Amino acid sequence: MEDKTTIIENDIFKNVVSHAKEYGFVFPSSEIYDGLQAVYDYGQNGVELKNNIKQAWWKAMTQLHENIVGIDAAIFMHPTTWKASGHVDGFNDPMIDNKDSKKRYRADVLVEEKAAEYAAKGEQTKADDLVKKLARLLESNDLKGVYDLIVEEKITCPVSGTCNWTEVRQFNLMFSTQLGSVADDASTIYLRPETAQGIFVNFLNVQKTGRMKIPFGIAQIGKAFRNEIVARQFTFRMREFEQMEMQFFVRPGDEMKYYEEWKTLRLKWHKAIGLPAEKLKYHKHEKLAHYANAAVDIEYEFPFGYKEIEGIHSRTDFDLGNHEKYSKKKLQYFDNELNKNYVPYVVETSAGADRVFLAILCNAYTEETVGDGEQQKQRTYLKLHPALAPIKAAILPIVKKDGLPEKARKIYDDLKYDLRITYEDKDTIGKRYTRHDLIGTPFCVAIDHQTLEDDTVTIRHRDTMQQERVKIEELRLKIRKQTSFKSILELC
Ligand code: GAP
Repeated sequence: MEDKTTIIENDIFKNVVSHAKEYGFVFPSSEIYDGLQAVYDYGQNGVELKNNIKQAWWKAMTQLHENIVGIDAAIFMHPTTWKASGHVDGFNDPMIDNKDSKKRYRADVLVEEKAAEYAAKGEQTKADDLVKKLARLLESNDLKGVYDLIVEEKITCPVSGTCNWTEVRQFNLMFSTQLGSVADDASTIYLRPETAQGIFVNFLNVQKTGRMKIPFGIAQIGKAFRNEIVARQFTFRMREFEQMEMQFFVRPGDEMKYYEEWKTLRLKWHKAIGLPAEKLKYHKHEKLAHYANAAVDIEYEFPFGYKEIEGIHSRTDFDLGNHEKYSKKKLQYFDNELNKNYVPYVVETSAGADRVFLAILCNAYTEETVGDGEQQKQRTYLKLHPALAPIKAAILPIVKKDGLPEKARKIYDDLKYDLRITYEDKDTIGKRYTRHDLIGTPFCVAIDHQTLEDDTVTIRHRDTMQQERVKIEELRLKIRKQTSFKSILELC
Protein backbone atom coordinates (compact mmCIF):
# COMPACT_ATOMS: atom_id res chain seq x y z
CA MET A 1 0.00 0.00 0.00
CA GLU A 2 1.25 3.49 -0.84
CA ASP A 3 1.92 5.69 2.16
CA LYS A 4 0.32 9.14 2.51
CA THR A 5 3.48 11.02 1.45
CA THR A 6 3.71 9.03 -1.79
CA ILE A 7 0.10 9.80 -2.61
CA ILE A 8 0.62 13.54 -2.00
CA GLU A 9 3.84 13.49 -4.06
CA ASN A 10 2.08 11.69 -6.91
CA ASP A 11 -0.72 14.25 -6.78
CA ILE A 12 1.85 17.03 -7.04
CA PHE A 13 3.36 15.34 -10.08
CA LYS A 14 -0.10 15.03 -11.66
CA ASN A 15 -0.59 18.75 -11.04
CA VAL A 16 2.78 19.55 -12.64
CA VAL A 17 1.90 17.48 -15.71
CA SER A 18 -1.49 19.14 -16.17
CA HIS A 19 0.03 22.56 -15.49
CA ALA A 20 2.61 21.92 -18.22
CA LYS A 21 -0.17 21.20 -20.70
CA GLU A 22 -2.59 23.91 -19.60
CA TYR A 23 -0.05 26.72 -19.74
CA GLY A 24 1.74 25.90 -22.98
CA PHE A 25 4.84 24.11 -21.72
CA VAL A 26 4.46 20.52 -22.94
CA PHE A 27 1.84 18.85 -25.15
CA PRO A 28 1.48 15.18 -26.08
CA SER A 29 2.78 14.74 -29.63
CA SER A 30 0.12 14.64 -32.37
CA GLU A 31 -2.54 14.89 -29.69
CA ILE A 32 -5.45 15.14 -32.16
CA TYR A 33 -4.66 11.51 -33.05
CA ASP A 34 -4.54 10.58 -29.35
CA GLY A 35 -0.81 11.16 -29.10
CA LEU A 36 2.22 8.99 -29.66
CA GLN A 37 3.56 7.09 -26.70
CA ALA A 38 6.59 8.70 -25.04
CA VAL A 39 6.83 11.53 -27.56
CA TYR A 40 6.07 15.11 -26.54
CA ASP A 41 6.04 18.59 -28.06
CA TYR A 42 7.17 21.75 -26.32
CA GLY A 43 4.68 24.61 -26.43
CA GLN A 44 5.17 28.36 -26.57
CA ASN A 45 6.42 28.64 -22.98
CA GLY A 46 8.12 25.26 -22.89
CA VAL A 47 10.37 26.05 -25.83
CA GLU A 48 11.53 29.30 -24.20
CA LEU A 49 12.26 27.58 -20.90
CA LYS A 50 14.07 24.71 -22.61
CA ASN A 51 16.10 27.09 -24.80
CA ASN A 52 17.12 29.01 -21.69
CA ILE A 53 18.25 25.80 -19.97
CA LYS A 54 20.25 24.86 -23.06
CA GLN A 55 21.80 28.33 -23.17
CA ALA A 56 22.73 28.13 -19.50
CA TRP A 57 24.52 24.85 -20.29
CA TRP A 58 26.13 26.06 -23.51
CA LYS A 59 27.43 29.23 -21.89
CA ALA A 60 28.70 27.37 -18.82
CA MET A 61 30.58 24.95 -21.08
CA THR A 62 31.92 27.16 -23.84
CA GLN A 63 32.09 30.68 -22.36
CA LEU A 64 33.51 29.64 -19.01
CA HIS A 65 36.11 27.25 -20.39
CA GLU A 66 38.69 28.53 -22.85
CA ASN A 67 39.47 24.96 -23.82
CA ILE A 68 35.91 23.87 -24.72
CA VAL A 69 34.30 24.55 -28.09
CA GLY A 70 30.96 23.50 -29.52
CA ILE A 71 29.78 21.68 -32.63
CA ASP A 72 26.47 20.64 -34.19
CA ALA A 73 26.83 17.26 -35.90
CA ALA A 74 24.19 15.56 -38.06
CA ILE A 75 21.73 13.09 -36.56
CA PHE A 76 22.42 10.58 -39.33
CA MET A 77 25.87 9.07 -39.29
CA HIS A 78 27.68 6.43 -41.29
CA PRO A 79 26.30 3.07 -40.07
CA THR A 80 29.78 1.79 -39.19
CA THR A 81 29.86 4.46 -36.47
CA TRP A 82 27.41 2.39 -34.46
CA LYS A 83 29.30 -0.82 -35.02
CA ALA A 84 32.49 0.83 -33.78
CA SER A 85 30.77 2.46 -30.81
CA GLY A 86 29.38 -0.90 -29.69
CA HIS A 87 25.75 0.15 -30.02
CA VAL A 88 24.83 -2.39 -32.73
CA ASP A 89 25.95 -5.27 -30.55
CA GLY A 90 25.60 -3.92 -27.07
CA PHE A 91 22.99 -1.19 -26.77
CA ASN A 92 20.32 -3.48 -25.40
CA ASP A 93 17.87 -3.58 -22.56
CA PRO A 94 16.76 -6.90 -21.08
CA MET A 95 13.03 -7.22 -21.66
CA ILE A 96 10.39 -9.59 -20.44
CA ASP A 97 6.72 -9.99 -21.41
CA ASN A 98 3.85 -11.00 -19.21
CA LYS A 99 1.92 -13.71 -21.06
CA ASP A 100 -1.42 -12.74 -19.52
CA SER A 101 -1.43 -8.96 -19.89
CA LYS A 102 0.81 -9.03 -23.01
CA LYS A 103 2.65 -6.07 -21.46
CA ARG A 104 6.38 -5.68 -21.97
CA TYR A 105 8.74 -4.61 -19.17
CA ARG A 106 12.41 -3.99 -18.63
CA ALA A 107 13.46 -6.98 -16.56
CA ASP A 108 16.10 -4.96 -14.66
CA VAL A 109 13.55 -2.25 -13.81
CA LEU A 110 11.16 -4.85 -12.35
CA VAL A 111 13.91 -6.07 -10.04
CA GLU A 112 15.01 -2.53 -9.14
CA GLU A 113 11.44 -1.65 -8.22
CA LYS A 114 11.29 -4.70 -5.98
CA ALA A 115 14.49 -3.51 -4.29
CA ALA A 116 12.94 -0.06 -3.83
CA GLU A 117 9.94 -1.75 -2.21
CA TYR A 118 12.25 -3.48 0.29
CA ALA A 119 14.04 -0.22 0.99
CA ALA A 120 10.74 1.60 1.57
CA LYS A 121 9.84 -1.08 4.14
CA GLY A 122 13.14 -0.45 5.93
CA GLU A 123 14.76 -3.66 4.62
CA GLN A 124 17.80 -1.87 3.20
CA THR A 125 20.22 -4.83 3.32
CA LYS A 126 17.78 -6.99 1.40
CA ALA A 127 17.36 -4.17 -1.14
CA ASP A 128 21.14 -3.71 -1.55
CA ASP A 129 21.72 -7.46 -1.94
CA LEU A 130 19.08 -7.64 -4.64
CA VAL A 131 20.59 -4.72 -6.59
CA LYS A 132 24.06 -6.30 -6.36
CA LYS A 133 22.75 -9.69 -7.49
CA LEU A 134 21.07 -8.06 -10.48
CA ALA A 135 24.24 -6.15 -11.40
CA ARG A 136 26.27 -9.39 -11.33
CA LEU A 137 23.75 -11.18 -13.56
CA LEU A 138 23.60 -8.33 -16.06
CA GLU A 139 27.35 -8.02 -16.17
CA SER A 140 27.71 -11.67 -17.11
CA ASN A 141 24.76 -11.35 -19.50
CA ASP A 142 23.00 -14.15 -17.59
CA LEU A 143 19.45 -13.55 -18.82
CA LYS A 144 18.22 -16.90 -17.49
CA GLY A 145 19.55 -15.80 -14.09
CA VAL A 146 17.57 -12.53 -14.32
CA TYR A 147 14.43 -14.52 -15.18
CA ASP A 148 15.02 -16.84 -12.19
CA LEU A 149 15.50 -13.82 -9.93
CA ILE A 150 12.16 -12.36 -11.02
CA VAL A 151 10.41 -15.65 -10.31
CA GLU A 152 12.29 -16.19 -7.02
CA GLU A 153 11.28 -12.71 -5.84
CA LYS A 154 7.68 -13.44 -6.87
CA ILE A 155 7.56 -10.26 -8.94
CA THR A 156 4.17 -9.95 -10.59
CA CYS A 157 2.92 -7.94 -13.57
CA PRO A 158 1.29 -4.72 -12.30
CA VAL A 159 -1.49 -5.15 -14.88
CA SER A 160 -2.41 -8.88 -14.74
CA GLY A 161 -1.05 -9.49 -11.25
CA THR A 162 0.43 -12.82 -12.42
CA CYS A 163 3.93 -14.24 -12.50
CA ASN A 164 3.41 -15.81 -15.93
CA TRP A 165 6.53 -14.45 -17.65
CA THR A 166 8.30 -15.16 -20.93
CA GLU A 167 12.05 -15.65 -20.89
CA VAL A 168 14.24 -12.52 -20.67
CA ARG A 169 15.56 -11.32 -24.05
CA GLN A 170 17.85 -8.52 -25.18
CA PHE A 171 16.20 -5.72 -27.15
CA ASN A 172 18.27 -3.21 -29.17
CA LEU A 173 17.16 0.34 -28.49
CA MET A 174 18.29 1.94 -31.75
CA PHE A 175 15.75 3.07 -34.32
CA SER A 176 16.75 2.22 -37.86
CA THR A 177 15.61 3.64 -41.17
CA GLN A 178 16.60 3.49 -44.84
CA LEU A 179 18.86 5.94 -46.59
CA GLY A 180 17.85 6.65 -50.20
CA SER A 181 15.38 4.58 -52.18
CA VAL A 182 16.93 1.11 -52.14
CA ALA A 183 15.76 -0.92 -49.18
CA ASP A 184 18.66 -3.29 -48.61
CA ASP A 185 20.89 -3.89 -45.64
CA ALA A 186 23.66 -1.67 -46.93
CA SER A 187 21.43 1.38 -46.76
CA THR A 188 20.16 0.81 -43.21
CA ILE A 189 21.10 3.70 -40.99
CA TYR A 190 20.27 4.58 -37.41
CA LEU A 191 18.84 7.57 -35.63
CA ARG A 192 21.66 8.38 -33.21
CA PRO A 193 21.03 7.03 -29.69
CA GLU A 194 23.54 9.51 -28.23
CA THR A 195 25.07 12.72 -29.56
CA ALA A 196 28.54 11.74 -28.34
CA GLN A 197 29.55 9.84 -31.48
CA GLY A 198 29.17 13.01 -33.57
CA ILE A 199 31.86 14.48 -31.33
CA PHE A 200 34.19 11.47 -31.51
CA VAL A 201 34.17 11.31 -35.31
CA ASN A 202 34.92 15.05 -35.42
CA PHE A 203 37.66 14.89 -32.81
CA LEU A 204 40.51 15.47 -35.27
CA ASN A 205 38.61 18.05 -37.36
CA VAL A 206 38.08 20.21 -34.30
CA GLN A 207 41.50 19.56 -32.77
CA LYS A 208 43.32 20.52 -35.96
CA THR A 209 41.16 23.44 -37.16
CA GLY A 210 40.86 24.86 -33.63
CA ARG A 211 44.50 24.07 -32.78
CA MET A 212 43.23 22.60 -29.53
CA LYS A 213 45.70 21.39 -26.93
CA ILE A 214 44.94 18.53 -24.60
CA PRO A 215 43.11 18.70 -22.25
CA PHE A 216 40.23 20.15 -24.28
CA GLY A 217 36.53 19.58 -24.70
CA ILE A 218 33.90 19.51 -27.44
CA ALA A 219 30.31 20.32 -26.48
CA GLN A 220 27.12 19.59 -28.36
CA ILE A 221 23.38 19.86 -27.85
CA GLY A 222 21.13 17.73 -30.03
CA LYS A 223 18.41 15.16 -30.47
CA ALA A 224 18.89 11.50 -29.63
CA PHE A 225 16.50 8.60 -30.17
CA ARG A 226 15.92 5.39 -28.24
CA ASN A 227 13.19 2.81 -28.62
CA GLU A 228 12.61 2.68 -24.86
CA ILE A 229 10.68 -0.34 -23.58
CA VAL A 230 9.51 1.40 -20.48
CA ALA A 231 8.30 4.82 -21.50
CA ARG A 232 6.60 6.69 -18.69
CA GLN A 233 6.78 9.47 -16.15
CA PHE A 234 5.94 12.11 -18.72
CA THR A 235 9.03 13.59 -20.40
CA PHE A 236 11.41 11.71 -18.10
CA ARG A 237 11.83 8.77 -20.48
CA MET A 238 11.08 9.59 -24.08
CA ARG A 239 11.79 7.97 -27.40
CA GLU A 240 12.98 11.25 -28.89
CA PHE A 241 14.86 13.53 -26.54
CA GLU A 242 17.66 16.04 -26.36
CA GLN A 243 21.12 15.63 -24.87
CA MET A 244 23.68 18.22 -23.77
CA GLU A 245 26.97 16.35 -24.00
CA MET A 246 30.61 17.28 -23.62
CA GLN A 247 33.59 15.05 -24.30
CA PHE A 248 36.76 16.10 -22.52
CA PHE A 249 39.90 14.70 -24.17
CA VAL A 250 42.74 14.06 -21.74
CA ARG A 251 46.12 12.34 -21.47
CA PRO A 252 45.82 8.62 -20.68
CA GLY A 253 46.25 8.30 -16.94
CA ASP A 254 44.76 11.73 -16.19
CA GLU A 255 41.16 10.62 -16.65
CA MET A 256 40.26 10.02 -12.99
CA LYS A 257 41.46 13.50 -12.01
CA TYR A 258 39.22 15.11 -14.63
CA TYR A 259 36.37 12.71 -13.89
CA GLU A 260 36.37 13.97 -10.28
CA GLU A 261 36.65 17.58 -11.45
CA TRP A 262 33.71 17.29 -13.84
CA LYS A 263 31.60 15.51 -11.22
CA THR A 264 31.97 18.57 -8.99
CA LEU A 265 31.51 21.13 -11.75
CA ARG A 266 28.36 19.53 -13.11
CA LEU A 267 26.70 19.33 -9.70
CA LYS A 268 27.48 23.01 -9.24
CA TRP A 269 25.73 23.84 -12.53
CA HIS A 270 22.54 22.06 -11.49
CA LYS A 271 22.53 24.03 -8.25
CA ALA A 272 23.26 27.28 -10.09
CA ILE A 273 20.19 26.92 -12.31
CA GLY A 274 18.04 26.65 -9.22
CA LEU A 275 17.81 22.98 -8.24
CA PRO A 276 18.17 22.77 -4.43
CA ALA A 277 21.27 21.00 -3.08
CA GLU A 278 19.18 18.78 -0.82
CA LYS A 279 17.34 17.36 -3.84
CA LEU A 280 20.49 16.46 -5.76
CA LYS A 281 22.80 13.52 -5.19
CA TYR A 282 25.38 11.34 -6.88
CA HIS A 283 24.67 7.73 -7.69
CA LYS A 284 27.69 5.60 -8.54
CA HIS A 285 27.07 2.97 -11.21
CA GLU A 286 27.25 -0.67 -10.16
CA LYS A 287 26.90 -1.82 -13.76
CA LEU A 288 29.14 0.08 -16.16
CA ALA A 289 28.22 0.78 -19.80
CA HIS A 290 30.32 -1.06 -22.37
CA TYR A 291 32.58 1.99 -22.87
CA ALA A 292 33.18 3.16 -19.29
CA ASN A 293 35.72 2.46 -16.50
CA ALA A 294 33.92 4.75 -14.03
CA ALA A 295 30.50 6.32 -14.07
CA VAL A 296 28.27 8.32 -11.81
CA ASP A 297 24.80 9.81 -12.23
CA ILE A 298 23.59 13.10 -10.87
CA GLU A 299 20.11 12.38 -9.57
CA TYR A 300 17.31 14.78 -8.77
CA GLU A 301 14.53 13.98 -6.33
CA PHE A 302 11.45 14.10 -8.55
CA PRO A 303 8.02 13.63 -6.94
CA PHE A 304 8.38 9.99 -8.10
CA GLY A 305 11.77 9.53 -6.44
CA TYR A 306 15.48 10.14 -7.09
CA LYS A 307 16.21 9.72 -10.81
CA GLU A 308 19.12 10.38 -13.16
CA ILE A 309 19.30 13.73 -14.91
CA GLU A 310 22.94 13.55 -15.97
CA GLY A 311 25.64 10.93 -16.38
CA ILE A 312 29.38 11.51 -15.99
CA HIS A 313 31.46 8.77 -17.55
CA SER A 314 35.12 8.01 -17.86
CA ARG A 315 35.00 6.49 -21.36
CA THR A 316 38.70 5.58 -21.62
CA ASP A 317 39.97 5.43 -25.22
CA PHE A 318 37.21 3.00 -26.14
CA ASP A 319 35.43 5.17 -28.70
CA LEU A 320 38.38 6.83 -30.43
CA GLY A 321 40.27 3.53 -30.37
CA ASN A 322 37.42 1.68 -32.01
CA HIS A 323 36.81 4.39 -34.59
CA GLU A 324 40.50 4.12 -35.49
CA LYS A 325 40.10 0.39 -35.91
CA TYR A 326 36.92 0.53 -38.01
CA SER A 327 37.77 3.61 -40.12
CA LYS A 328 41.46 2.73 -40.47
CA LYS A 329 42.19 6.43 -39.93
CA LYS A 330 44.54 7.63 -37.21
CA LEU A 331 42.66 9.42 -34.44
CA GLN A 332 45.65 10.40 -32.38
CA TYR A 333 47.06 13.47 -30.77
CA PHE A 334 50.68 14.51 -30.81
CA ASP A 335 51.59 15.69 -27.34
CA ASN A 336 54.47 18.18 -27.62
CA GLU A 337 55.34 17.96 -23.96
CA LEU A 338 55.57 14.18 -23.96
CA ASN A 339 56.87 14.12 -27.53
CA LYS A 340 54.60 11.26 -28.48
CA ASN A 341 51.34 10.30 -30.17
CA TYR A 342 48.44 8.73 -28.31
CA VAL A 343 44.72 8.09 -28.48
CA PRO A 344 43.31 10.48 -25.86
CA TYR A 345 41.15 9.27 -23.00
CA VAL A 346 37.73 10.83 -22.61
CA VAL A 347 35.67 12.08 -19.71
CA GLU A 348 32.09 12.69 -20.75
CA THR A 349 29.36 14.77 -19.17
CA SER A 350 25.95 13.91 -20.57
CA ALA A 351 22.83 15.72 -19.38
CA GLY A 352 19.31 15.26 -20.68
CA ALA A 353 17.80 18.65 -21.60
CA ASP A 354 14.29 17.25 -21.15
CA ARG A 355 15.07 15.75 -17.76
CA VAL A 356 16.65 18.95 -16.51
CA PHE A 357 13.58 20.78 -17.86
CA LEU A 358 11.29 18.42 -15.93
CA ALA A 359 13.34 18.79 -12.75
CA ILE A 360 13.25 22.58 -13.08
CA LEU A 361 9.49 22.52 -13.68
CA CYS A 362 8.79 20.19 -10.71
CA ASN A 363 10.97 22.33 -8.48
CA ALA A 364 9.42 25.61 -9.63
CA TYR A 365 5.82 24.48 -9.28
CA THR A 366 4.56 26.16 -6.11
CA GLU A 367 1.14 26.04 -4.50
CA GLU A 368 0.69 28.29 -1.49
CA THR A 369 -2.00 29.91 0.60
CA VAL A 370 -1.88 33.68 0.77
CA GLY A 371 -3.86 36.29 2.71
CA ASP A 372 -5.69 36.01 6.04
CA GLY A 373 -9.21 35.13 7.11
CA GLU A 374 -11.79 35.68 4.39
CA GLN A 375 -9.12 37.06 2.07
CA GLN A 376 -7.27 33.76 2.16
CA LYS A 377 -6.78 32.12 -1.22
CA GLN A 378 -4.71 29.53 -3.00
CA ARG A 379 -1.95 30.77 -5.29
CA THR A 380 -0.05 28.70 -7.85
CA TYR A 381 3.07 30.00 -9.53
CA LEU A 382 6.32 28.88 -11.08
CA LYS A 383 9.31 29.93 -9.01
CA LEU A 384 11.75 29.78 -11.92
CA HIS A 385 15.20 31.31 -11.88
CA PRO A 386 14.59 34.68 -13.66
CA ALA A 387 17.20 33.85 -16.32
CA LEU A 388 15.30 30.67 -17.21
CA ALA A 389 11.78 32.15 -17.17
CA PRO A 390 10.07 32.00 -20.61
CA ILE A 391 9.01 35.65 -20.39
CA LYS A 392 11.17 38.07 -18.45
CA ALA A 393 8.62 40.82 -17.97
CA ALA A 394 5.01 41.60 -18.86
CA ILE A 395 4.20 45.19 -19.75
CA LEU A 396 0.69 45.89 -18.49
CA PRO A 397 -1.34 49.12 -18.67
CA ILE A 398 -3.68 48.91 -15.66
CA VAL A 399 -6.66 50.03 -17.76
CA LYS A 400 -7.30 50.07 -21.46
CA LYS A 401 -7.94 53.82 -21.73
CA ASP A 402 -6.63 57.30 -20.84
CA GLY A 403 -3.54 56.89 -23.00
CA LEU A 404 -2.11 54.11 -20.80
CA PRO A 405 -1.99 51.45 -23.56
CA GLU A 406 -0.09 53.87 -25.81
CA LYS A 407 2.41 54.67 -23.06
CA ALA A 408 2.81 50.94 -22.25
CA ARG A 409 3.33 50.11 -25.94
CA LYS A 410 6.11 52.68 -26.11
CA ILE A 411 7.87 51.03 -23.18
CA TYR A 412 7.36 47.58 -24.73
CA ASP A 413 8.69 48.70 -28.12
CA ASP A 414 11.73 50.20 -26.47
CA LEU A 415 12.59 47.06 -24.45
CA LYS A 416 11.65 44.27 -26.86
CA TYR A 417 14.99 44.27 -28.70
CA ASP A 418 16.90 43.45 -25.52
CA LEU A 419 14.48 41.34 -23.53
CA ARG A 420 11.95 38.56 -24.10
CA ILE A 421 8.91 40.47 -22.88
CA THR A 422 5.21 40.62 -23.63
CA TYR A 423 2.49 43.29 -23.79
CA GLU A 424 -1.03 42.59 -22.54
CA ASP A 425 -4.03 44.82 -21.93
CA LYS A 426 -6.95 42.35 -21.71
CA ASP A 427 -8.66 41.50 -18.39
CA THR A 428 -8.15 43.04 -14.96
CA ILE A 429 -4.61 43.67 -13.78
CA GLY A 430 -5.10 41.00 -11.08
CA LYS A 431 -5.99 38.35 -13.65
CA ARG A 432 -2.98 39.29 -15.74
CA TYR A 433 -0.69 39.00 -12.69
CA THR A 434 -2.12 35.53 -12.03
CA ARG A 435 -1.59 34.46 -15.66
CA HIS A 436 2.04 35.50 -15.47
CA ASP A 437 2.56 33.83 -12.09
CA LEU A 438 1.40 30.60 -13.71
CA ILE A 439 4.10 30.74 -16.38
CA GLY A 440 6.77 32.06 -14.04
CA THR A 441 7.22 35.63 -15.34
CA PRO A 442 9.43 37.22 -12.68
CA PHE A 443 8.36 40.83 -13.27
CA CYS A 444 5.07 42.48 -14.14
CA VAL A 445 5.42 46.13 -15.08
CA ALA A 446 2.23 48.11 -14.45
CA ILE A 447 1.64 51.39 -16.24
CA ASP A 448 -0.85 53.62 -14.39
CA HIS A 449 -1.99 57.25 -14.36
CA GLN A 450 1.01 58.32 -12.31
CA THR A 451 3.22 57.01 -15.13
CA LEU A 452 1.84 59.73 -17.40
CA GLU A 453 2.82 62.35 -14.84
CA ASP A 454 6.27 61.28 -13.68
CA ASP A 455 7.50 58.52 -16.02
CA THR A 456 7.58 55.92 -13.26
CA VAL A 457 6.04 52.42 -13.29
CA THR A 458 5.35 49.71 -10.75
CA ILE A 459 7.30 46.48 -10.84
CA ARG A 460 5.47 43.61 -9.19
CA HIS A 461 7.74 40.77 -8.10
CA ARG A 462 6.40 37.25 -8.76
CA ASP A 463 7.62 35.43 -5.65
CA THR A 464 6.90 38.05 -2.99
CA MET A 465 4.08 39.86 -4.86
CA GLN A 466 5.72 43.04 -3.56
CA GLN A 467 5.64 46.16 -5.66
CA GLU A 468 8.23 48.85 -6.17
CA ARG A 469 8.10 52.12 -8.03
CA VAL A 470 10.90 52.70 -10.53
CA LYS A 471 11.74 55.17 -13.27
CA ILE A 472 11.08 53.99 -16.83
CA GLU A 473 14.66 54.80 -17.76
CA GLU A 474 15.88 52.33 -15.10
CA LEU A 475 13.70 49.45 -16.31
CA ARG A 476 15.99 48.01 -18.97
CA LEU A 477 19.04 47.80 -16.73
CA LYS A 478 17.09 46.51 -13.75
CA ILE A 479 15.33 43.69 -15.63
CA ARG A 480 18.40 42.79 -17.65
CA LYS A 481 20.53 42.57 -14.54
CA GLN A 482 18.11 40.35 -12.71
CA THR A 483 17.36 38.05 -15.65
CA SER A 484 20.93 37.77 -16.87
CA PHE A 485 22.72 34.41 -17.10
CA LYS A 486 25.55 36.01 -15.15
CA SER A 487 23.97 35.08 -11.83
CA ILE A 488 23.99 31.42 -12.96
CA LEU A 489 27.44 31.44 -14.52
CA GLU A 490 29.04 33.09 -11.48
CA LEU A 491 28.06 30.04 -9.43
CA CYS A 492 29.36 27.46 -11.93
N1 GAP B 1 26.56 9.54 -24.16
C1 GAP B 1 26.25 8.93 -22.93
C2 GAP B 1 24.84 8.69 -22.74
O1 GAP B 1 24.06 8.81 -23.66
P1 GAP B 1 23.08 8.01 -20.93
O2 GAP B 1 23.24 7.91 -19.44
O3 GAP B 1 22.48 6.89 -21.65
O4 GAP B 1 24.53 8.34 -21.47
C3 GAP B 1 22.67 10.58 -20.80
O5 GAP B 1 22.24 9.32 -21.24
C4 GAP B 1 21.50 11.43 -20.37
O6 GAP B 1 20.54 11.50 -21.42
C5 GAP B 1 20.73 10.87 -19.18
O7 GAP B 1 21.31 11.27 -17.96
C6 GAP B 1 19.36 11.48 -19.37
O8 GAP B 1 19.33 12.77 -18.80
C7 GAP B 1 19.24 11.60 -20.88
N2 GAP B 1 18.39 10.50 -21.39
C8 GAP B 1 18.76 9.24 -21.67
N3 GAP B 1 17.73 8.52 -22.13
C9 GAP B 1 16.65 9.36 -22.13
C10 GAP B 1 15.28 9.22 -22.49
N4 GAP B 1 14.80 8.08 -22.97
N5 GAP B 1 14.46 10.29 -22.34
C11 GAP B 1 14.94 11.47 -21.88
N6 GAP B 1 16.21 11.66 -21.54
C12 GAP B 1 17.08 10.63 -21.65
